[in-house]
Amino acid sequence: MNRRKLFQIFSALGGATLMTKREAAAQSQAARATRGMPSPKIKDVQVIQTAPAGLRLPVVKIITDQDGLYGYGCACFTQRADLVVPAVERYLRPFLIGKPADRIDDTWQAMYNSSYWRNGPVLNNAISGVDQALWDIKGRQAGMPVYQLVGGKVREAADCYGHASGEDFPQVLESAKEYMSRGFRHVRVQVGIPGMAGYGSRAGGSQVKSLHSGPVFEPAVYIRRALKLFEVCRKELGDEVELLHDVHERIHPTQAVQFAKDVEKFHLFFLEDVLSPEDIAWFRLIRQQCATALSMGELFNSPHEWTPLIAERLIDYIRIHVSQAGGFTPCRKIAAMAEQFNVRTAWHGPGDVSPVGHCANATLDVVAYNFGVQEYSPFNERLQEVFHGCPVMKDGYLYPNDAPGWGIEIDEKAAAKYPFGYGERGSHKDLNGGWGEVRKRDGQIIKQ
Ligand code: CO
Repeated sequence: MNRRKLFQIFSALGGATLMTKREAAAQSQAARATRGMPSPKIKDVQVIQTAPAGLRLPVVKIITDQDGLYGYGCACFTQRADLVVPAVERYLRPFLIGKPADRIDDTWQAMYNSSYWRNGPVLNNAISGVDQALWDIKGRQAGMPVYQLVGGKVREAADCYGHASGEDFPQVLESAKEYMSRGFRHVRVQVGIPGMAGYGSRAGGSQVKSLHSGPVFEPAVYIRRALKLFEVCRKELGDEVELLHDVHERIHPTQAVQFAKDVEKFHLFFLEDVLSPEDIAWFRLIRQQCATALSMGELFNSPHEWTPLIAERLIDYIRIHVSQAGGFTPCRKIAAMAEQFNVRTAWHGPGDVSPVGHCANATLDVVAYNFGVQEYSPFNERLQEVFHGCPVMKDGYLYPNDAPGWGIEIDEKAAAKYPFGYGERGSHKDLNGGWGEVRKRDGQIIKQ
């Protein structure tokens, strides 16, 4: 109802003498507000397939029926990125077209349940792409960053850790010092194992003797090397810096119990993935025997995995890959649940998360009271050429964008310059971005 019409009605009712023009305008404004914003409908669902940093990053774009109103969502399962694309295009797209774009939780539940079989990484990532795009749309519609839509900031920025690594101890120390000189208070340290394929660092020297020709890894050798690394780091870097380390689920549970006890004296900020998701029941034993801070969860995609660890207070940091869990909507709920048990968040944030996903991480970081730390990986020039508005790193703090939605705009022409496969070499290239294999000396395959 417009102002003039309202005024005419009041005139007709004989109220015109009592009602000023200004009052009529106020009434009209109230009427408009109660009508709310028009509900946008989903017009199209697309997947932008880009790899500016040599890692396949599928990003969902949802276009609404309102002029210029669209949003982006991270669907990054880089090792099987090609499969996420048809999951979105062939299943979610027809399911979503015509549906309202403003019922995010309802849409999430509908997508989650519509495959009947659920909680798999491909489908969860596809759902995340849509979920985050809908949050982006809501933010753009409101003219607010997503962190404002969910209550606003409880901190200014996210304290981050960088990845310091090297073939040997001096290289790791140099890398750690470089982060510290840039203001980082938290550094993850990983060192190579001579002749072996350790996680998070390059191998030095020629490959150790084995019964096969592929990369070799031996858990016991790694454990001894890592313990030495922490000793060297504490000696050379001091006690003030917070040290982190990722085991990447590469050791046996019995070794994990011992290792967690042995590293206790180095006061790590956290020890990550000391167990694999299949072995999480062993956390109870570790918890009973030492006070080493534990983080876990980047491989989780089912509530059956994170719920017991949080509810029994078996870990200190929940470390989910946000798109793997299904997006911003479920992770907001996980953070809220974890807050009740004083388990803190440390969302997964390496290079195989798109800048849109990093914005979702940074948003969760600044709105959740129980934030712990954020994993950081830099955005190179090509990434910034494609994704405008990446979160900003300053003195070890990551600042979310304060533009509406996630604050990211994608240059689709630039994205097309770096198609899936760009920059891939060796087995990555042969396996469409997938990972190869790592085996023990005797040929037994290990978890990576
Ligand atoms: Co990790």
